[in-house]
Amino acid sequence: MDQDRLSWEQKAEDWHKQVMYDGDKSRKYFSDPWIWKLLGNVKDKKILDLGCGTGYLSIRIASKGASVIGVDFAETMIQKAKQISPENLDIEFIRSESHKLSFIQNESLDFVVSNFVFMDIKEIEKTMDELYRVLNDRGKVITVFSHPCFPLDQCQETEEGVVFNWEHPYFSKRRVTSPPWAHHKSDFIHYHRPLSYYWQIFKKSGFSVLDFIEPVASEELKVQSPQLYENSLFKPVMVLFQLSKD
Ligand SMILES: C[S@@+](CC[C@H](N)C(=O)[O-])C[C@H]1O[C@@H](n2cnc3c(N)ncnc32)[C@H](O)[C@@H]1O
Repeated sequence: MDQDRLSWEQKAEDWHKQVMYDGDKSRKYFSDPWIWKLLGNVKDKKILDLGCGTGYLSIRIASKGASVIGVDFAETMIQKAKQISPENLDIEFIRSESHKLSFIQNESLDFVVSNFVFMDIKEIEKTMDELYRVLNDRGKVITVFSHPCFPLDQCQETEEGVVFNWEHPYFSKRRVTSPPWAHHKSDFIHYHRPLSYYWQIFKKSGFSVLDFIEPVASEELKVQSPQLYENSLFKPVMVLFQLSKD
């Protein structure tokens, strides 16, 4: 099995612990408020959750009346998502690579959401072509991923503040292996690419960039975790793109 996939196959239980049903702090206080704002009313919409993991976003979107396809290349993630998903929801969980979506018809979807996944996808250019194919004329992609300018795995907290240790030039694309963090037990593999590269490949596949957002924490976090809130005002940790077909 491909190493990238293997590393995610080992993480399903720990990933569920990470996000549970409501999302971890990064999702709840940073990216989710934007995702909901941009999605609007999802009732009766057809939505692909690409790289769905254990399905927390698929479940929440389907709970609001959408018809959801959750796709992930890790079988263990798909099994966990099926196990925790309430039966009454309109969700289909399918194991597949992000660039192989032939089971989805041309122009059949209203939205693709992809939550903290693009930096993990090796075949990102082919994936963008597939997303363009499956979306209808008014369809949108909403994608959140780790900020490539501020990689968390390459920063150290010192007495003077946060220091970044760049081992490679920012502009060179590369595969990165980071050690496990928090309660995780195996390495994380991702692909560093400069921001300009993402803009180029989005355009190359036919998409226009409608929104580009660097989310900071919502005010709610100020009370719960003041330090995290302060840090979020100092540097962004994620980017969000909304893409349209026109
Ligand atoms: C950081 S997790 C995010 C999971 C979920 N979106 C969430 O927010 O909890 C990244 C997910 O993307 C999946 N993934 C990574 N590369 C993929 C690929 N090429 N095709 C499909 N899924 C992929 C992994 O298996 C993992 O479940």
